[in-house]
Amino acid sequence: MPELIPVIKKDAIDRKIAEIARRISDDYKDSEIVLIGILKGAFVFMSDLMRHLTIPVQIDFICASSYGSGTSTSGNIKLTKELGIDIHNRDVVIVEDIIDTGHTLAYLIEYLKSFRPKSIRLCSMLDKRERRGVDIKIDYSCFIVEEGFLVGYGLDYAENYRNLPEIYHLKL
Ligand code: IMP
Ligand code: MG
Repeated sequence: MPELIPVIKKDAIDRKIAEIARRISDDYKDSEIVLIGILKGAFVFMSDLMRHLTIPVQIDFICASSYGSGTSTSGNIKLTKELGIDIHNRDVVIVEDIIDTGHTLAYLIEYLKSFRPKSIRLCSMLDKRERRGVDIKIDYSCFIVEEGFLVGYGLDYAENYRNLPEIYHLKL
């Protein structure tokens, strides 16, 4: 049986999201932002984050998949759901669950830039640095984790565990 080791508790997640949402609301206090969530993993984080924002916000989602082995991104990425709203000249904040190698984000940032938004910043629940392969600036990051495969709070392993309210290290 796979073992689930608690890494980040619900109240720590709640406190951190409230803090990050305050920073975003301050930074964009005279603006209206577009949050773009990366499906599927980011939807839980984004739904909590957006309810803490005190500025006007619109949302959309894009979905990317990569062909690779079970627990690592190959760099061979395909968009499976395109952007639905116009972000030309808009302030965009990308919302991601976890940044690992960074290949998915590097690809998606280039895709979003092609619509010529006014600005793009990046917000990630988790920043996992162990296998980072490309240089990515994360403007708003909730937690830094050094290693391991994490599940819960939107994060999956083979589509399981997304519903867990806290974040766990999965030991197979
Ligand atoms: P990257 O392209 O390697 O940065 O991979 C990013 C995507 O891989 C994330 O959006 C997740 O969907 C998935 N991923 C990377 N690390 C983990 C993990 O520890 N648990 C669950 N999913 C992960
Ligand atoms: Mg993801």
